[in-house]
Amino acid sequence: MIKAVIFDLDGVLADTAKYHFLAWLSIAKELNIPFTEQDNERLKGVSRTESLNILLSLGNLTLSESEKEQYLARKNKLFVDFINLMSPNEIFPGVVSFIKELRSEGYKIALGSVSKNAETVLSVLGVADLFDAVVSGKMIKNSKPDPEVFLLASELLHIPPHECVVVEDAAAGAEAAVAAGMKCIGISPHPLEKTVVTLQNTGDIDIALIKKL
Ligand code: G6P
Ligand code: MG
Repeated sequence: MIKAVIFDLDGVLADTAKYHFLAWLSIAKELNIPFTEQDNERLKGVSRTESLNILLSLGNLTLSESEKEQYLARKNKLFVDFINLMSPNEIFPGVVSFIKELRSEGYKIALGSVSKNAETVLSVLGVADLFDAVVSGKMIKNSKPDPEVFLLASELLHIPPHECVVVEDAAAGAEAAVAAGMKCIGISPHPLEKTVVTLQNTGDIDIALIKKL
């Protein structure tokens, strides 16, 4: 029986995945690397450093460590500038009421994100108080598809993995959930592999679905 729901952040609670994409697109242009939204799918759920490595491989480019550091700092500055302009009304429709409904029925709620900006985004969205546990990129060594982020969330909630369900928009995230021994609900316009179901929007998840898992 499911006792906890672990939400990914970017692309699940709000459209911050778009801001990661726009920031990487700007870096790709500086480096003259062709970069499409389809290429960006590979970066979802993946750490900042690994994302840069994927981008560089797309352009067959190598950079020195110090050059990499500069691009990573620049990408993060672009992303942080976007999120600082966000307001609570950018949370996806239905998400706050869904989390409140889950809480009122006794489910534990966690965040499982690889982003080092996760705490900031939660506070900008005004939803930090809705989470019993928050795992961000600052707390883990390995990014998705490694299960570390979700296993740590399960540990902090004191709920075993098989009683947790993950909500994810990224292929790497669904893989991480399954590797952690958890079921996964996908949020995507296209069917996501390894999920029990893929829905268009986070607000489309019905509590009846969680009860059936
Ligand atoms: C999430 C996003 C990725 C992003 C990663 C690191 O997993 O899906 O696109 O690269 O977080 O985010 P950060 O805010 O630490 O650069
Ligand atoms: Mg995501």
